Parts: sequence; structure tokens; C-alpha cells
Amino acid sequence: MRNLTSSLTNKNKFLIFGCGFSGTFFAKTIRKHGCTVLTSSRSNKNDPNSFVFDSENNNIPDENIFKGVTHVLSCIPPDKNGKDPVLKILKNKIQSLSPEWVGYLSTTGVYGNTYGNWVSEKDQPNPFQKRSQKRLNCENEWLESDLPIQIFRLPGIYGPGRSTFESIKNNKIRVIHKNNQVFSRIHVADITNAIIYLLENKNSSEFHPIINIADDEPCSQIEVIQYCYDLLKLRMPEPILFEEAKKELSPIAQSFWIENRRVSNELLCKKLGYKLIYGSYKLGLKNCFLNLN
Ligand SMILES: NC(=O)c1ccc[n+]([C@@H]2O[C@H](COP(=O)([O-])OP(=O)(O)OC[C@H]3O[C@@H](n4cnc5c(N)ncnc54)[C@H](OP(=O)(O)O)[C@@H]3O)[C@@H](O)[C@H]2O)c1
Repeated sequence: MRNLTSSLTNKNKFLIFGCGFSGTFFAKTIRKHGCTVLTSSRSNKNDPNSFVFDSENNNIPDENIFKGVTHVLSCIPPDKNGKDPVLKILKNKIQSLSPEWVGYLSTTGVYGNTYGNWVSEKDQPNPFQKRSQKRLNCENEWLESDLPIQIFRLPGIYGPGRSTFESIKNNKIRVIHKNNQVFSRIHVADITNAIIYLLENKNSSEFHPIINIADDEPCSQIEVIQYCYDLLKLRMPEPILFEEAKKELSPIAQSFWIENRRVSNELLCKKLGYKLIYGSYKLGLKNCFLNLN
């Protein structure tokens, strides 16, 4: 049933910057709520609902794109200098629209290494990786933008078309064991649904500028991979110890194993009352399995 106090109506117009995996899922879903949605891409898509935006070539979208915009969501990562690509070029333009709401997809990488301990929005960010320092810089740019910004900190994103199943299928799987190492994750549908839930309840619940969206069960990579092999009824390869495996990992792949944290969703799920669709990797991966081509 539709929420009668919902701040979402079919008069809403969303601009989504960076329509990759999460942006596409969000756009599809929010259109089902009757909202108008225009999405950016760095290349011309030959689609009336898509417009070209590439921060690297100073390409400013056509004026028509901005008419009647009520909501903005950015899914674009920091540029190489750690600046936010959208704010760098369009900050004044977006401010002039006086949007009702602006969302920004960030990462839980800004928390840095918590050595396996739980981390929440109350904890001070302590980014270790260069890319996470850039990300924190972008978060701060948004927070200082005078826009009604809501930042969503996300752990590893997966869903149909981007999950361990694809890694297995493409022979990219590495079964690595590292003592006490866990990862947090989130199914793409829960990113979208949590944001829509917050928008629908915006008028009746306390506004939080920073919110983690993560599932209930941080766990080791091996548990996830084993579960996928079980669903496929295949035998999982023997695990390799991290110290051995790391010699062959790219620097970026290695960097993910340096940090170890459990991301808390208490604010979203307990305080604000969002009910996860896929509370655990098992539920989420079953959904991916059922959607395998
Ligand atoms: N993947 C993860 O596990 C993960 C985890 C936590 C947080 N995040 C962050 O959450 C956000 C959404 O993640 P995602 O995996 O859904 O993203 P994604 O699929 O990688 O999509 C990113 C989008 O950003 C656009 N983009 C990149 N650089 C741009 C630039 N300079 N100017 C204009 N557009 C640019 C890309 O445009 P094109 O479509 O033209 O390529 C793409 O549509 C990202 O900021 C990501 O870094 C990701």
C-alpha cells in the first residue's frame, strides 16, 4: 500500500548522475513510482531519458534537462584529484534548482580499518586508502554545499549480473583464506529500496545526513563463495592462504584485504525502521542465482 504521508509523487523529477549498476536499478524502480527520471552517461545513448555528462571534458548538460527537477542522486566516484565530479561542474546549477532532496552514494571505505569491529555513522571516518580519502573529501564537499544532502555509505555492492556467480563463470574466482577477515555487503535492490523508504518517510521521520546501507551479516569471502558453489552443485576449489595469494593480486585487489570491518545498519534498520529485502548474503545470492542467464 502507498504511504499516504509519502514525499514522493508523480510530480517528482529525478536527475541521476552516473547510471551504472546501482543508478540503473534505482532509475528503473523509481520510474515504477510514477516519477520522471533522467540519467547521465559519458557516452550518447540514443535514449530520450539519457543525457551526456562527463566531468572530464566540462560537458554541461542542456538547460532542458534541469527543468522541474525536484530530486538529484549522484552515483559518480571522486575524480582523480579527489574532487566531486558533479559539484565541480554543476554545483551552482543544482543550487539554483532548490531541489527537495539530493542523494550521494559513498562508500564505507571512509571508515578505514576497524580490525573486524563494528562501525557506525557515529564513528569518526578514518580513511586509510587514498581513494577513501578522496571519497571523504567528496562527502565533505556535498555536506558543505548548502544542498539538502543525504549520503549513503555502501559496502560491496552485488546483485543479479554482478555477483560471485559471474566471477565463477568468468574464471575470475580466487578462494582466499585470511584469518578473522570479514567483508560487509549490500544487495543493489536494498540500496534502492532503502533510499525510496527514506524518501517516502521523509516528512515523518528524523532526517539523517549520513546513513549506512549494509546487510545484517558481514562474513568471510569463503562463506559466500562456498554458498555459490553449493547452489551451483559444484565443488569449490581449495582455499589459498592470503599470504600466498597476494603475490598474484593486483594492488587494488590487495587493498580490499587490508581493511577489516563490520558495518552496522542499526540506524537504518532499527532506528529508522527499514526492513531489508536481503538481510543476509544467502538470501541475496539466492536471488542472483534465480536470475542467472
Ligand atoms: N561497486 C561497489 O562494490 C561499491 C561499493 C561501495 C561504493 N561504491 C560506490 O557507489 C557508487 C555506485 O556504485 P556502482 O558500482 O553502482 O557504480 P558504477 O556501476 O561503477 O557506475 C558509476 C557511474 O559513474 C559514471 N562516471 C564515472 N566517472 C565519471 C565522470 N568523470 N563523469 C561522469 N560520469 C562518470 C559512469 O558513467 P558511464 O556509465 O558513462 O561509464 C557510471 O555510470 C560509486 O560511486 C561507487 O564508487 C561502489
